[in-house]
Amino acid sequence: MIYLNNAATTKDKPKEVFEAVQKFILGNNVSPGRGADMLSVEADSILTEARISLARLFNAEDPKQIVFTLNCSDALNTAIKGVLKQGDHVLVSSIEHNSIVRPLRSLERQGIEVEIVPVDPKTYAVDPQEVSKRFKKSTKLVAMLHASNVIGAVQPIGEIGAETKKSGILFLVDAAQTAGIYNIDVQNMNIDLLAFAGHKGLMGPQGTGGLYIKEGIDIEAFRHGGTGSQSELETQPEIMPDKFETGTPNTPGIAGLKASVDYILREGTDKIKQHSQELTSILLDGLKGIERVKVYGPLDAKKQASVISFNVSGTDPKVVGDILEKKFGIIVRTGLHCAPFCHKTIGTFPKGTVRISTGYFNTKADVETAISAIKDIAGS
Ligand SMILES: Cc1ncc(COP(=O)(O)O)c(C=O)c1O
Repeated sequence: MIYLNNAATTKDKPKEVFEAVQKFILGNNVSPGRGADMLSVEADSILTEARISLARLFNAEDPKQIVFTLNCSDALNTAIKGVLKQGDHVLVSSIEHNSIVRPLRSLERQGIEVEIVPVDPKTYAVDPQEVSKRFKKSTKLVAMLHASNVIGAVQPIGEIGAETKKSGILFLVDAAQTAGIYNIDVQNMNIDLLAFAGHKGLMGPQGTGGLYIKEGIDIEAFRHGGTGSQSELETQPEIMPDKFETGTPNTPGIAGLKASVDYILREGTDKIKQHSQELTSILLDGLKGIERVKVYGPLDAKKQASVISFNVSGTDPKVVGDILEKKFGIIVRTGLHCAPFCHKTIGTFPKGTVRISTGYFNTKADVETAISAIKDIAGS
């Protein structure tokens, strides 16, 4: 079987991830910070070490500013609902995932104004000037994905961050498709809030994710409860990261995430990104030459994450996906990929596309096999 649905979650992970999860479950398996005993303290130190590794990866000023969440959607909800109040104006791109669109649509009912910045129809990137020209007095937040989960288009987040900083507007980046693959430097890129999934490019277990919150940014916690700290208080502690980490965390998952982030730090994102671009380039070249196949997006491996959407004319994307799985043993994802907004922008709504997304453990042979299979389906 060839797994090419890594934009949903990476199936293959470094072996250190499985070992770390197993080591925690077999050797510790207690709740972090919910006791003064040796095991509780040891479990707590796993969370601290994981925060340190993530802070290194994203160049965060202080590991305490990294909050663990259930996944990237949870991190985005924490940021969006913690920042926006009635009357605030927020800017998003026209290719966002539902994890940004849905929380905002729900807040619109409470008096938040959402404005869409269209992407360039050729590059599918947002022009930073198109963002800044929409700034007004009530603009509180710019919330944007770093790379599209449908067409891979990478956004100029450093330049957008420079614009938001100049105007004192908060910048939230959805790094679901780039964390662990692209170099993300929250300080140099002026990112105030960075939401990431632990289980995609970061190659950690499912049920992990996080939110970086720049020091000094005052946002509300939307979840309240036990944190294992300041138990004398009946109100949520204000200390970081406890303010946003209510209830027992996914310590086995975070132990695995720490191992995967350390693996990424050893490999280096330059090498990981180069591999991703190499496979994307082979796929783009291979698919471009097939009659009846239309590929969407920037069509440039240097400007796109390892996510490629295509359709075979006259064939439903679901049928193409079924044949790829049943006849060729290739797993892809078809349909709208939780991003109807993006499909409306690229003209593939409501049927969507067939999406191929590679991971660090995919090989050239994997993508060459996929190209041959698609040629066969398209009758070329
Ligand atoms: C761009 C983007 N944002 C957010 C998410 C949500 O991630 P999670 O499944 O970790 O909540 C995804 C998942 O595919 C995504 O691709």
